[in-house]
Amino acid sequence: MLTIGVLVSGSGSNLQAIIDAIENKTLNARIAVVISNRIDAFALERAKKHNIPHEVVTRKEFPERNAFDHKVAGLLRSSGVDLVVLAGFMRLVTPALLDAFPERVINIHPSLLPSFPGLDAQTQALTHGVKITGCTVHLVDGGLDTGPIIIQAAVPVLEGDTVESLSKRILAEEHRIYPQAIRLFAMGKMKISGRSVSSGSSEATSKASLENPLVYPD
Ligand code: GRF
Repeated sequence: MLTIGVLVSGSGSNLQAIIDAIENKTLNARIAVVISNRIDAFALERAKKHNIPHEVVTRKEFPERNAFDHKVAGLLRSSGVDLVVLAGFMRLVTPALLDAFPERVINIHPSLLPSFPGLDAQTQALTHGVKITGCTVHLVDGGLDTGPIIIQAAVPVLEGDTVESLSKRILAEEHRIYPQAIRLFAMGKMKISGRSVSSGSSEATSKASLENPLVYPD
């Protein structure tokens, strides 16, 4: 069974979606550890509630990014983690973590990458005036939201959308596609060749989500 470690900083609604998928048996995986860089992250409460081992590693203890990532990589390794899942983890990761888990660190971002990387992706989308945005699960490389794309889902921008209303609809899609992406690793079907990620599974293709876009009434 795939053993995952989840890195969080905030509310942890994506962590919850992964826990739910495991509990309702649509995802055959086990969360060995949840690691937060913030002691007040609500995600830790979710881990506690589901009896998932959890750790806090703060910037105060490890101000240097490399040392922080060494510590985190050690915890993940000692928990037997195969796949590292960043779920609202608000720190850039360094080679200290990436080299310990080559092609096994994934992230979710609230835009259709490569558009709107970095912070405040929903604000960037609204400011730019795009009509469709969405979310992306990607492998993490050394850049800011630049790694190979695994799954994307499209979300229409509606007239009068605010950052809050748009974020809420994007988040609903995040909760759908993140467990789906992890399932591809669990099934051992991921093939990574340069920037191209394939799985042989039709559920993995961004095409599937674009052919059946979610349409929201006005
Ligand atoms: C999500 O929008 C995710 O795309 C971004 O941070 C947010 C995390 O939300 N990386 P949550 O903590 O999973 O609720």
